Amino acid sequence: MKPVKIGLLGLGTVGSGTVQILQRNTKEIAGRTGRAIEILLIAVRDINRPRSIDTRSIELTQDPYAVVNHPDIDIVVELIGGDTFAKDLVMKAIANGKHVITANKALIANYGNEIFEQAQQQGVVVAFEAAVAGGIPIIKALREGLAANQIEWLAGIINGTSNFILTEMKEKGREFADVLAEAQQLGYAEADPTFDVEGVDAAHKLAILTSIAFGVTLKFDKVAMEGITDITPLDVSYAEQLGYHIKHLGFARKTQQGIEMRVHPTLIPRQRLIANVDGVMNAILVKGDAVGPTLYYGAGAGGKATGSAVVADLIDVVRTLTSDPDNRVPHLAFQADALVDLPILPLTQIETAYYLRLSLLDKAGVLAEITQILGQHHISIEAVIQKEPSNENTPAVTMIMLTHKVIEQHMNQAIVAMERLDSVMAKVVKIRLEHLNK
Ligand code: NDP
Ligand code: HSE
Repeated sequence: MKPVKIGLLGLGTVGSGTVQILQRNTKEIAGRTGRAIEILLIAVRDINRPRSIDTRSIELTQDPYAVVNHPDIDIVVELIGGDTFAKDLVMKAIANGKHVITANKALIANYGNEIFEQAQQQGVVVAFEAAVAGGIPIIKALREGLAANQIEWLAGIINGTSNFILTEMKEKGREFADVLAEAQQLGYAEADPTFDVEGVDAAHKLAILTSIAFGVTLKFDKVAMEGITDITPLDVSYAEQLGYHIKHLGFARKTQQGIEMRVHPTLIPRQRLIANVDGVMNAILVKGDAVGPTLYYGAGAGGKATGSAVVADLIDVVRTLTSDPDNRVPHLAFQADALVDLPILPLTQIETAYYLRLSLLDKAGVLAEITQILGQHHISIEAVIQKEPSNENTPAVTMIMLTHKVIEQHMNQAIVAMERLDSVMAKVVKIRLEHLNK
């Protein structure tokens, strides 16, 4: 059979990892697809930049349109990033009848609905396994492996950079900025690293996972989003003392009222496997009604790990080249006419447990005032610890509370009431807590 000809857009961290795998595992890949894969052309920004891989047998161009318009290219692999220029290139490739593979979660989260519709009309595949959780085949697991189930909820550590930073801060006491710089140097971080630390990248990925899990269209703008920038070593240490690790978690759950879709720092009991996922590793816990809880673990960023997912998509697409375009695995797991429009709940309507850190005046009756307010808002306390004042000259003591589950709006109202008390000496720190056991 004739080789399948592909063109790449981008030869950075992921592009280089992808080419390296294609060069190293040529025989295994051809054995799996039944056809050779030939890289015809790669577009880069600077053709003279030294490359970490052997490009002698590959033609490079500074014109990305030369790739998407090339008459001999069957599959375009988009690894440039961003969601404006990349979108234009992907739409052009689809219009030209080419299959597309991308690692670009920003593109899929923001424009996936439009891209998939166009792809369906053209009878081409858009594959995006590498867009979520680097090398972990979570899209395939949700779309195919768990296809028998109603998915109840999923929870994932889905930003490698944030997890790397939290782990290094906790285990080695390193400074935030210093660890972020290392993550950038290792190629883990996004071109704009605020996407990693402010939760945007995790929100992109959660929007994609939510659609595939629950059969809803992509709604990135509805993801409730918080990053790791406000997490202090103090809270990490108190959480540890109570038996929890703090992780940046993406969480999606289908409820009677609608879908919860949120990313934020979360306390997780340390006996859960997912609480012990450290460094750049990612993990996603998926609860299906038939299978129960399942866990997927692996490298969440980096050239070769992500390249592994890109090449797996390539193999899938090559295998489907001869299949009936109307009978392929649907982009969002459900057939386009079976996607439903469930409401996404605002953050105020979600239900979760909480860690609270209060700075209180050290005098009789203060704890009673706090518990009274919590009681008025139907918030039940699971654990309380009071810390000794850090020095004898301060009138403040630190109180840590863990609560049972409550609707976030009630918690917010209780915090406003507590902060009005003269005995509450600083803003109340609130971090969500998930037991992830049901
Ligand atoms: P890099 O910045 O390392 O690479 C980007 C590549 O695109 C470079 O080769 C660059 O060329 C090329 N490029 C950029 N703009 C243009 C342009 N206008 N014309 C032609 N070429 C261009 O990014 P990554 O490899 O890290 O990321 C690529 C995509 O993969 C992003 O969508 C990212 O979110 C996603 N991703 C990244 C992961 C990671 O671990 N890094 C993991 C999972 C997904 P040049 O080399 O000449 O500068
Ligand atoms: N910047 C992303 C991360 C890359 O750190 O997880 C992988 O998607």
